[in-house]
Amino acid sequence: MKFNLNSYHFKLLKDYERLSVFKEAIDDYAKTRKNDYNLSDNRNNDINSNLQSDKKIAFDLGCGSGVLSYFARDYFDKIISIELNESSYKLAKENLKDFDNIQVFNEDILNFDFNRMEDKADLIICEMLDTALIDEEEVPVLNYAKKFLKEDGVIIPHSIINSAEAIFMNNHFIQYEDDEFTPIYITLAKSSIYSEFKFLDDIDPDFSTIIDLKIFNKEDLEEIRFEDEISKEKFEKFNFKENFNIRENKLKINGIKLTSFTRLNENIICGPTPMLNPSLLIPIEEMEVICGDIVRIKLEYIMGGELETIKTEVLEIIHN
Ligand SMILES: C[S@@+](CC[C@H](N)C(=O)[O-])C[C@H]1O[C@@H](n2cnc3c(N)ncnc32)[C@H](O)[C@@H]1O
Repeated sequence: MKFNLNSYHFKLLKDYERLSVFKEAIDDYAKTRKNDYNLSDNRNNDINSNLQSDKKIAFDLGCGSGVLSYFARDYFDKIISIELNESSYKLAKENLKDFDNIQVFNEDILNFDFNRMEDKADLIICEMLDTALIDEEEVPVLNYAKKFLKEDGVIIPHSIINSAEAIFMNNHFIQYEDDEFTPIYITLAKSSIYSEFKFLDDIDPDFSTIIDLKIFNKEDLEEIRFEDEISKEKFEKFNFKENFNIRENKLKINGIKLTSFTRLNENIICGPTPMLNPSLLIPIEEMEVICGDIVRIKLEYIMGGELETIKTEVLEIIHN
């Protein structure tokens, strides 16, 4: 199958890891629901026609080029694919035109009248993910659309797990670690998991938490061969000799790195890929820390807001 793509959707499709975890999760869903999948012979293409309750229905929210609807095409009597961006909608419409069980809409999901349908969805697929769910509308969209999911309905992805690490970074602005940008940084603390959200739950988009970042102690630094592993570039860029005095246990931090892990279903978890939740580096005030310190920070943002909604505050440094 040849897909028509623009440059953004080309990048999304080139990210095979992203694609394959979604494909696997959709296939897994169909396997576990196998007995339910006696699809009706008379697939009906008219959204206003009688959708009977035994029909299998999926929503593909933010369908983009339509690739996830394509993966699901054989498993449902009807797939409702919704895309806000007009040019992406046109791509999806063209790409999916041969499948009479798929209907593509050019609408904002948040205004979409799902009551037009006479039945709810068995499965919602929604890849509107962003690191820590900040910069895309996954949370507001699912908070709304899951009202139109059957009681035993399933959402792919199932949940997201977020973690934070203290770092020292070169650029003091918010940046992703993706294909386009390769920020230079050193990790200086163990990773702390600070939140997990299940998409079947109602999620409050206003997020606020306190995270304890445990700075590496001497043994941790030896174990990861901290000094030996610093590249010449980092050594020079970070003025390493001045900022890091390992003999006296002195380190410096000036940022945190957020990493999200997407749980597609019970068996599939995917870490960051270039186009699926690449890690996000956020500046904090620069400070000297001692090996083994705990840096307590407050982190706030709005899920489905924008990166500008991120706020950080260092609350205290706890010496051990
Ligand atoms: C990360 S892309 C994923 C596209 C596709 N699902 C895929 O996996 O290749 C997210 C898509 O959601 C669309 N989108 C964002 N907000 C939307 C909204 N409120 N209503 C409908 N579509 C939206 C974007 O235009 C974009 O095409």
